[in-house]
Amino acid sequence: MGYFRSGMLVLSVCAFIGAAYAEEKDITVPRVPGDQRAAAKAMKNPIAKTPENIAKGKAIFEGKGTCFNCHGLSGKGDGPAGAILNPTPRNFTNPKFHKLRTDGEMFWVIKNGSAGTGMVPLIGTAVTEEEAWYAITYERTFDGKQ
Ligand code: HEC
Repeated sequence: MGYFRSGMLVLSVCAFIGAAYAEEKDITVPRVPGDQRAAAKAMKNPIAKTPENIAKGKAIFEGKGTCFNCHGLSGKGDGPAGAILNPTPRNFTNPKFHKLRTDGEMFWVIKNGSAGTGMVPLIGTAVTEEEAWYAITYERTFDGKQ
């Protein structure tokens, strides 16, 4: 029992340290595996960037898509569930990220997840393919250019 308790203590201390040092995984490393990257990049977002479509994307991001739980309402990756994740959720307010990824690569991650992170596959569970494109259209507005 003593071993169990001290084990739990070590675990909680590690979890605490882990959370304290949690950071975003290097965004310059592509998340789509090499053999699927060209196909992912070639995918085009069918949703036009109109104010109506951005509003639809926002509703999905902040609603049934559950994206805000981790990525935060601000898009900074500071949602309540994101706070316990390491690596941390993507900060969509970083303009560098938007230059590094195509919409197709973002779609691939929403469909397949990002291995070894809290970003699990969400197409088919939280959102449909179409809703994922709407969410991406909204996520793009966090770069401050819209
Ligand atoms: C349970 C927490 C969680 C939820 C819910 C979540 N995400 Fe994520 N998301 C993450 C984490 C963690 C990362 C960082 C993964 C990495 O660094 O590889 C991430 C990364 C991403 C990325 C960046 C992928 C890349 O190429 O770098 C996109 C796009 C994304 N999420 C979209 C979404 C959308 C859209 C939703 C809602 C439908 C959503 N996420 C919901 C945790 C979450």
